[in-house]
Amino acid sequence: MTKFMVVGDTHGNTNFAYSMCHKAKNNGIDTIYQVGDFGLWDHAPDGVKYLDNLNRESEKCGVTWYWVPGNHENYDSLAAHRATNGLDERGFVKIRDRILSTDKALVWTHDGIVFGAVGGAVSIDRAYRIEGKSWWPQENTTMDDVTLFRSQVKSVFNSVDVLLTHDSPTTLPEWPGFVKDDVLSQRNREAMDMVYESANAVVAFHGHYHKHLAYKFRDTAVIGLSCDDDGAGHWGGDLRSYAIVEVATRIDAGIVIGGEYNITVFDRSNVHGTKEYLV
Ligand SMILES: [Fe+2]
Repeated sequence: MTKFMVVGDTHGNTNFAYSMCHKAKNNGIDTIYQVGDFGLWDHAPDGVKYLDNLNRESEKCGVTWYWVPGNHENYDSLAAHRATNGLDERGFVKIRDRILSTDKALVWTHDGIVFGAVGGAVSIDRAYRIEGKSWWPQENTTMDDVTLFRSQVKSVFNSVDVLLTHDSPTTLPEWPGFVKDDVLSQRNREAMDMVYESANAVVAFHGHYHKHLAYKFRDTAVIGLSCDDDGAGHWGGDLRSYAIVEVATRIDAGIVIGGEYNITVFDRSNVHGTKEYLV
């Protein structure tokens, strides 16, 4: 049985990230995947503190974070970490010992389960942000990202089992108050369609919309996760925006050929509550 956690947008929120470390530890989980807007903002002292403190807490809890970049990340810093540290043996960029990023696109395996990740999305409030301080032009998912992902999928596998993205595909259901309906956001979701199509995953997780959603992209079960809570009740009063995934894999001749996925989503919204999915 393989068990891991998937966490929604953390936005550099130490309280939220700490609580995720402890929930992972309490559930016997050592791997946290995070679906973007992690909060790589180490051009500011608070951003460095966030990384250092979270790394320390993760060490204490025996967990490691692997995150896919969202739109609110310092992409210049990500490139600098990559240039300084290189990539590890699975292709991750080491930010700290217990905090690693996928860069924009990556395919890897975890206990024989094939994972894929593609980052990026569009900031609808970019007009109010400052380039290099609170907005980075590399944020959107480009055709180069899609092509890189496709080549990684095709070079080793024909599909992935679990897909992690920041943005959603176009099959995202809209809701009253949905605001990310501008042309650039739509174009990014269309790029995601290509990612989701080539991944042909059993299950996919994304963030970005700060809302728990469950829908389909073709045969893929898609789960949107909501985001961090500030601990003071501003986002609903608790610290839940994550999923615990248990996979019972089927193995033939030493190779994982399938599996049963038991997914429990813990959502901060009382409307959604806790949901379980069997994929
Ligand atoms: Fe986002």
